[in-house]
Order: sequence, then C-alpha cells, then structure tokens
Amino acid sequence: MEIINWKELLYPYEQTVEELLLKFRSLDKECRHLGIYSPIDSVTGRLKRPASILEKAGRKQIPPDKIEEQIEDIAGIRILCQFVEDIPKVIDMVRSRKDMTVVEERDYITNTKPSGYRSYHIIIRYPLHTALGAKNVPAEIQIRTNAMNFWATAEHSLRYKYSGNIPQELQDRLKNCAEAAFRLDTEMATIREEITNAQRLNEIKNNLVTNILENIQNLYFVAKLDDMNEINKEFARVWNSDDIDKLREFNTKLNIMAEMYRT
Ligand code: GTP
Ligand code: MG
Repeated sequence: MEIINWKELLYPYEQTVEELLLKFRSLDKECRHLGIYSPIDSVTGRLKRPASILEKAGRKQIPPDKIEEQIEDIAGIRILCQFVEDIPKVIDMVRSRKDMTVVEERDYITNTKPSGYRSYHIIIRYPLHTALGAKNVPAEIQIRTNAMNFWATAEHSLRYKYSGNIPQELQDRLKNCAEAAFRLDTEMATIREEITNAQRLNEIKNNLVTNILENIQNLYFVAKLDDMNEINKEFARVWNSDDIDKLREFNTKLNIMAEMYRT
C-alpha cells in the first residue's frame, strides 16, 4: 500500500482555504465600508481531515493516487446568508470572479435532499501559486442560510454519532426540524426589508457616532474649555434624542468647527 504524505498533500488545500476566506471576508467588509447591503453574513472554512478523506475514498472506491483529483471537497468554505434571497447574489459573486473557475454547481435548495438537507454547492478550481509552481486546486463552496446551517450542523453531528444510520424515529423528527427551518426562512423573507432597513440605519448611526466622538476628541486639543463644555452638553442632548438627522447635523457642525480651528 502506498504511503500518503498528508502534510505535503494537504498544504495547497490549507493555503487555498486561507486565500478563499480572506477574499470572501473582504468582500463582506468592503460592502459594510461602502454602506451597501452585503449578501454575506459570515464565512467559515475548513480542511477535510485525513480520516474523512480516507473514509470517502473508501466509500467511492477512489485509489490513493486519485485522491487529489477526485475528492473535490478537501478544501471547503461555507458562506452563510441571512436570507434565502441573498443566496443567488452570492452565487453571482462566485461565478463572476476572474480568480477562480466554476466547474460544477449542485442546487440542493431547489432539489432538497431526502434527508432534508438544503444548501447550494459550487465546486471550483482555484489557481494557487505555491513555492513549487502553479497548481489548480479543487475546492467546494457551500452557500446556505443560517437556518439551513443550523439544521445541517445538527444533522451532521447525529449522522456522525450513529455512523450514518440514524434511527427512524430520530430521522422523522429531523425531517420536522428541516421543515421548521424552511418555514423560518420563508417567514423571515416576509420581513426582510424591515430587517435590512433597520440594520442599515444602525450602521449609519454607529458610523456617525464614531465620527462625532473622533471629532470631539480632536477638538479637545485645540478648542476653548467653554466651547468644549457646550459641545459635550449638546452631544448629550443629541444622543438622547435618538434622532439620526440631529446626529448628522451635529457632526457637520463639529466638522466645520474643526476646520475653523485648523485655519
Ligand atoms: P460526500 O457527501 O462528502 O460524500 O460528498 P458528495 O461527493 O456525495 O457530494 P454531496 O454534494 O452529496 O455532499 C457534499 C457535502 O455536502 C458533504 O460533505 C456535506 O458537508 C454536505 N451534505 C450533503 N448531504 C448532506 C446531508 O444530508 N446532511 C448534511 N448535514 N450535510 C450534507
Ligand atoms: Mg454525498
């Protein structure tokens, strides 16, 4: 039997997970920075463990020298969304990227698995530049809502515990849970706009308050004590009013003051 050098085999996959994580997380971060809606709620990544790789190779009768070529989920990232409607946007993000190639898509959302599993999978090839040269690394991107993920994580634990043979009674209850998760996604979709509007307002408010506090801090070095007392009082008033327009006006006023002191 051929001996597999796991460290050497896994290294490109590990690097691929890291680069993919960085790239999709920065997309999310950039959206927040620009104040536009991000269809990404969070991104996680994982490397398939040697035991799972061997298990899968055995199950699918893949010889050791074909593992790298035929097991496509050694590198995996998972993109979680708040709403089902976000999923097509994330799919488009992946499809339109120039730094990875889509080789296969599996839509388990339209085609729910018999277990109740729902998720959208995209298999890609990621051109990795290693110290030893270029390598096209396979990776799996799973896109699902938080509700789908809650269910899949729980089901996965049970599947593992029962080595794949979950007792019928438990399977039935899992099916009920899958339906409940589906209903949660459907119900959430009906108040999606309310939620995203609220989130946008919170984001704007947080950014404004951060700006205001930064301005006040800077003014401390240059402004007169009387002015600072006045500013602090006004900040307390504006803060308590909880009115975003007042916060905005106050911030503009501070900007002008800072400008005046500068000249
Ligand atoms: P394996 O299921 O890993 O053998 O891969 P596959 O080549 O058959 O592809 P498939 O698209 O069926 O599954 C890929 C991955 O999706 C799995 O490794 C799991 O992470 C996830 N998955 C698929 N089906 C289920 C399911 O019924 N329950 C859970 N919890 N996860 C699933
Ligand atoms: Mg499978």
